[in-house]
Amino acid sequence: MKLNIALLAGDGIGPEVIDQAVKVCDAVAKKFNHDLNWRPALTGASAIDAVGDPYPDETHNICATSDAVLFGAIGHPKYDNDPSAKVRPEQGLLRMRQKLGLFANVRPTFTFPSLIDKSPLKRERIEGTDLVFLRELTGGIYFGKRGRKDNGDTAYDTCTYTRKEIQRLAKKGFEMAEKRSKRLCCVDKANVLESSRLWRETVQAMEKDYPEVKVSYEFVDAVAMRLVQWPSEYDVLITENLFGDILTDEASVISGSMGLMPSASIGENISLYEPIHGSYPQAAGKDIANPLATVLSAAMLFDGFNLSEEAEAIRKVVNESLSEGIVTEDLAEGGKSYKTSEVGDWLASHI
Ligand SMILES: NC(=O)c1ccc[n+]([C@@H]2O[C@H](COP(=O)([O-])OP(=O)(O)OC[C@H]3O[C@@H](n4cnc5c(N)ncnc54)[C@H](O)[C@@H]3O)[C@@H](O)[C@H]2O)c1
Repeated sequence: MKLNIALLAGDGIGPEVIDQAVKVCDAVAKKFNHDLNWRPALTGASAIDAVGDPYPDETHNICATSDAVLFGAIGHPKYDNDPSAKVRPEQGLLRMRQKLGLFANVRPTFTFPSLIDKSPLKRERIEGTDLVFLRELTGGIYFGKRGRKDNGDTAYDTCTYTRKEIQRLAKKGFEMAEKRSKRLCCVDKANVLESSRLWRETVQAMEKDYPEVKVSYEFVDAVAMRLVQWPSEYDVLITENLFGDILTDEASVISGSMGLMPSASIGENISLYEPIHGSYPQAAGKDIANPLATVLSAAMLFDGFNLSEEAEAIRKVVNESLSEGIVTEDLAEGGKSYKTSEVGDWLASHI
């Protein structure tokens, strides 16, 4: 298969972790006889520095005309520490999601057998966890009307959802549940929020189209608690943007390190694959960041084209590297650790 892949390395550790994913993907392409055409483009703070825009038109054109996007991370302390900055790296991320129509963020949460004791949670609680969140990505409070009034002393943000937006996300959730253990949990706050009541009503109306899927409805505060108490009780969870943002970071604790968890953002025409972590600026340029979240995001990219053998080859070699202790310092616990680039080389050579 020939794939054109837009490569948005971004800021901080982005370029370093992306380099390792490219090495691994190229090794997979060689082994399985695919042709990968990488198309690098600017984004984030580095794009602001270069052309004054965190998501330049040229980058959008490259993304929109590719088969998929592999994304590193964006963000720089000079913007984090300056809330008054008019142009910001995150604006690029939000604009990219909107312009590419990336409406569903898919975040699998699972445990790695060799790392289970590194999780801050007890083994018996998390063993066997294999759940996936589908977070709505282009609606809700992050995109609603906001502002200040009363001379700046009152601030407001509004959460708006349309039935269509909910159906589009829920459809993906039902389809995913059908392929997995046929359990779907709709996470909302329907006892308080009108937008949540529309979520619940919409998903309830869709149940009849997926008779094999058993749907539960839970309040977000209860899920926040049960997620770390009994994560294996969940399979597919669907939720709106803000709740999903918070719950998916909470879920990442189950697997033990931010450096491990991949994600995909699905659109109607194109999907984007990215680690869940940010640009970890303290580690930028040091060759110490864990590249596995990005490498596993690349595995999801192959899954996206139904190349499941290729995706499995990546997951297998990642698990092997973990069992053999070929790990970056975040997982080494004071023992021997490897550089980001060494882990990438090891993975590529073992594909
Ligand atoms: N999608 C994105 O691009 C994205 C997501 C979150 C944060 N950000 C941005 O990233 C910058 C830093 O934010 P932050 O510090 O809150 O989050 P972060 O994910 O960059 O880092 C938080 C902590 O997680 C750990 N970590 C993260 N990635 C790791 C890796 N690959 N290997 C090992 N450990 C890793 C480190 O201990 C780090 O201190 C900010 O500018 C923020 O806006 C970007």
